[in-house]
Amino acid sequence: MRIILLGPPGAGKGTQAQFISKEYDIPQISTGDMLRAAIKEGSELGKKAKDIMNAGGLVSDDLIINLVKERIAKPDCANGCIFDGFPRTIPQAQALADADVAIDHVIEISVPDDEIVKRLSGRRQHPGSGRVYHIDHNPSKVDGIDDVTGEPLIQREDDKESTIRERLATYHEQTSALVGFYQDKAKKDDDAPTYNKFDGTQGIEDVKQQILSALKG
Ligand code: AP5
Ligand code: ZN
Repeated sequence: MRIILLGPPGAGKGTQAQFISKEYDIPQISTGDMLRAAIKEGSELGKKAKDIMNAGGLVSDDLIINLVKERIAKPDCANGCIFDGFPRTIPQAQALADADVAIDHVIEISVPDDEIVKRLSGRRQHPGSGRVYHIDHNPSKVDGIDDVTGEPLIQREDDKESTIRERLATYHEQTSALVGFYQDKAKKDDDAPTYNKFDGTQGIEDVKQQILSALKG
């Protein structure tokens, strides 16, 4: 099964991707986590991505499409995967279609901008695994420490209010067009992925239950 999670920064894509990944035993492919790992390694990709990410813009389609193509060729993707934060532009979505990567479900998680600014300031992340927490809505067992590894949690560099606003503007300008793109496909074509939208302002557990029950169809 292949699933695309669509939604603005902070909507809960990473949080819900982890639940789906466990439920269906398929990997989460977060282009954001892969880019942050590249920055940490100091690779060429990381050097190209760093300033763009910290400014809240989008890394070029060519770089992202190559990154994803390499990732989905790995054996752990044989039974499917969850795309978290990809595609983010029409050319990225078109590249998936052109490569005959069939998608079964598109899941949109929607949250209004003001709620997102509040939410992202409370996020904490384990950099090694991408596991996400929230100081109020999903706290780790020990403050500032990852539940699984015992390693320290960090705040993402792009979770400053000014950068969050830029990321939101980028979402509305370049990514929200994918809502129409996949909704139209779902209406016109029987083989197209199903399209389901969820209210991401509900609690984490409620959103999870609704998504899992929609996937079971
Ligand atoms: P990326 O890492 O994908 O960031 P994003 O899209 O901005 O999304 P986030 O990771 O901030 O949010 P999320 O929806 O995963 O929410 P989460 O579950 O963490 O991308 C970063 C950057 O990389 C981009 O800006 C761009 O520069 C670049 N990039 C990445 N992909 C690219 C691509 N395809 N093309 C070009 N450039 C690309 O939840 C957020 C917080 O809220 C957490 O603290 C969580 O605990 C909490 N939370 C979750 N759900 C709920 C809930 N229901 N109620 C209350 N709190 C909740
Ligand atoms: Zn994320």
